[in-house]
Order: sequence, then C-alpha cells, then structure tokens
Amino acid sequence: MTRKIIIDTDPGQDDAVAILLALASPEEIEVLGITAVAGNVPLSLTAKNARIVCELAGKPDVKVYAGCEKPMGRVLVTAEHVHGETGLNGPKLPDPVMELQPEHGVDFIIDTLRAEPAGTVTLCPLGPLTNIATAFQRAPDIVEKVQEIVLMGGAYFEVGNITPTAEFNIYVDPQAAEIVFKSGAPIVVMSLDITHKALVTPARNEAFRAIGNRVGTAVAEMTDFFERFDLAKYGSEGAPLHDPCVTAYLIRPELFSGRHINVEIETQSELTMGMTVADWWGVTDRPPNALFMGTIDAQGFFDLLTERLARL
Ligand code: BDR
Ligand code: CA
Repeated sequence: MTRKIIIDTDPGQDDAVAILLALASPEEIEVLGITAVAGNVPLSLTAKNARIVCELAGKPDVKVYAGCEKPMGRVLVTAEHVHGETGLNGPKLPDPVMELQPEHGVDFIIDTLRAEPAGTVTLCPLGPLTNIATAFQRAPDIVEKVQEIVLMGGAYFEVGNITPTAEFNIYVDPQAAEIVFKSGAPIVVMSLDITHKALVTPARNEAFRAIGNRVGTAVAEMTDFFERFDLAKYGSEGAPLHDPCVTAYLIRPELFSGRHINVEIETQSELTMGMTVADWWGVTDRPPNALFMGTIDAQGFFDLLTERLARL
C-alpha cells in the first residue's frame, strides 16, 4: 500500500538522497509535500535546496514549503563544516525554476493532517524537529491523526556527533524534540546507532556513479563532498548516509530492527543538551514511546538505493 508522507527536511546532501529515494518510489510512497526547516544551513538555503532536489529528480510539481527559520528556544546552530556553504556542495546543480508554495510549512502540516483521514499521513523529519513541534503546539488535535513519525535523530550507543553527547538534529532544537517525543504519536527513530552502520564505502559510491544517469552522478558527487569531512572525523571506510534510512524504512522495513523503548530528551544541562536518553536496557519503568532501531542490513539498504535512484 502507498504511504502518504510529508518530508520535513534541511537539505543537506543526505537529506537530498532521502528525498530522491522517496520520489523514485511512487508505488510505496506518495509525497504530499516537503517542508523545509533551518538546520544544516539557514532556511533560505534549505528551502531552495529542497526544490533543487525535486528538479534533479524530474519532479517539479512536488509542493515545497518554507517552515521555521529558527529553533523554538535557542540560537540556530548550522553545519556548513559538514555540508558546505550551500548545504548541497559537491555537484553543480542549477538554481530551481519551481516556486516555493506561499503557505507556511507549519500551516501545511496542520492543514494536511486535518484534511486527510486519521492515521493515513506519516511525518518524516530529517532535520531539527522545529516545524513538527510548532505544528503540534499550535494544533494539538493533529497529533492523534498522525499515522507514524519516522525520524532521523538521536543516538544511544554512538552518543553524539555535534557534541560528545548529542546528535545534530536533536541538539539544534531540543525543546522541539522533547515536544515530539512526549506527544504520544507513534515514533520510529533512525539514530546514529543505525546510520553509523550505513557507510558509503568506495564500492557503494562507485555503484551510484555507475548508474549512469544525472541523479547517480550527482549523488556520487554529494557523498564525495561530505566523505572528506566524515572520513577525517571517524577514520572509517566510508561516511554515514543518515537521512535515507528514514525513507528506506518506508519501502523495506525488514532492513531494520529495534526495540520499543522510552526515549527522553535532555533540555536542561548545557553539558549534555540534546542528548537522547534512551532506555535501551529497560532499566526504568518509564513507558515506551519510540521504536528505536538498533540494526540495519547495510548492503540491502545500499542495493535498494542504487536500484531506486536508477529509476529517476
Ligand atoms: C543529521 O544531521 C545532519 O547534518 C544530517 O543531514 C542528518 O540529518 C545527522 O546527525
Ligand atoms: Ca538532515
């Protein structure tokens, strides 16, 4: 069955690949719209990059909305050191011709969840959770209408990537993350524990390049760009490809397994701000609020990506 989704994103090369995978998979995924949020780079760039990616996919009719330009209670932290000045450094891609939708991204999320039958829309956050939390705060009635939230964010065993204890998406807007994790909506978490196993090895990147279409080449050039940073940082055989784990889950959930556990967000301590305190071992009696993934079939994931990107 096709799942209707809203992609909430801060592209970002890995966001771009996640969007491309969704747009390449119309049998499983119907993209109702894409909402941009400030994160890897400021909102003006993420809103532009989302449209660049839709045009790269040959889908200029996808509706793209600009959402929130800063976190709920903190100063925006960006990640140009990873993604480059534009957020999409690597390939040379033309400026978009398609226009931004006039509606605010948060209004689009609220209106869509109110308009669609309950339990039929999945939210796919790939960046800080500002847009989603703002929508939940402004329109609490929509929470129970969400089918599922499948998000990239957090970490338990891998702990952190932007601070020693926090993953970037949660760190940028911990207050928003707390609202989402406490909302009661069903949540699936693709954390660094998963994405640090989804490594773009040289062979996997060559497979993207060998697809031979514009998308395959662009994706290979994107990963070439952020590899240089991540390889120096982690010294592993390839850089993690975070966000496509979200859209891959919607297509082939059997690639992933995890545990239903309690996850709370640190919002007080500056030292551990944005930490996802995940009760993986079940040592508290706090009720489970998320399916926190622990394993991924990494080769199956890259095979799926290569197969689908070839369709664009
Ligand atoms: C997350 O942060 C961003 O830099 C990536 O796009 C991904 O969503 C990984 O921590
Ligand atoms: Ca992202």
